[in-house]
Amino acid sequence: MNNPYEDDKLLGEYLLFHYGPDIDVMPWDFGPQNGLQFPRRTIEELVDHAKLPEDSCALDMGCAVGGSSFELSKICQRVLGIDYSKSFIDAANSLKNRGSMAYRFPVEGGHYADGVAQIDPGPGEVEFEVGDACDLPQNLGSFDLVHAANLICRLPDPLLFLDRLPGLVKEGGQLLLATPFTWLEEFTPSKNWLGSGDSEQKLKELLSPNFILEERKDLPFVIREHRRKFQFSVSLGTRWLRVH
Ligand SMILES: C[S@@+](CC[C@H](N)C(=O)[O-])C[C@H]1O[C@@H](n2cnc3c(N)ncnc32)[C@H](O)[C@@H]1O
Repeated sequence: MNNPYEDDKLLGEYLLFHYGPDIDVMPWDFGPQNGLQFPRRTIEELVDHAKLPEDSCALDMGCAVGGSSFELSKICQRVLGIDYSKSFIDAANSLKNRGSMAYRFPVEGGHYADGVAQIDPGPGEVEFEVGDACDLPQNLGSFDLVHAANLICRLPDPLLFLDRLPGLVKEGGQLLLATPFTWLEEFTPSKNWLGSGDSEQKLKELLSPNFILEERKDLPFVIREHRRKFQFSVSLGTRWLRVH
């Protein structure tokens, strides 16, 4: 199947979303400024610093071009970012190795502006790998923190990933999950959409045998399509503590 994330246009869109200056992502001061800096906020607004051990390791599943992974490197000693898209992982590795990367973002009608993505990593070690959240290797290990932002409604079978979570998060570890539940047939066959109109409730049912819900926040985000068109969505941000 053609993977739409392999597309250059999407690469530019995600480099802008993760690293672009606020003024390029949302150039209108009357626009939703509260939707900026999403890859940083899913960590900052959800993490429980007190429960992170000093030598903590984190998994950023569906990391795209790595914005949240580099953010995690400020609070975790080791971070593994995994994404299905090779072009996103290549970009994340290039940023890791060179510190910056040029990209283009749409102005209007086939015209683009130039941008330069720059990382501001922490002291933690970051690695990126291509991988499938629905078919992860059994020997991936377990983590003090697992972060999955805007991922589950992009998976063909979200249950395959959700079922792996108790094994991926260490006991006492935290799961930071954010999702706008934007179910689309092109990514997830409708028979695999969570719940029937109440995905949040279904998510709670699925995770509650192993996790306690500790935090719940609405996290708005804005993605630029062009100078005068934007996607505004509200992700449901949650933090879960693994107890069993
Ligand atoms: C909507 S984006 C979210 C990216 C990033 N976490 C963020 O918050 O900006 C969904 C990401 O999931 C990735 N993805 C889609 N299917 C995947 C799969 N089966 N395994 C791992 N990553 C996948 C896509 O390549 C894309 O980077």
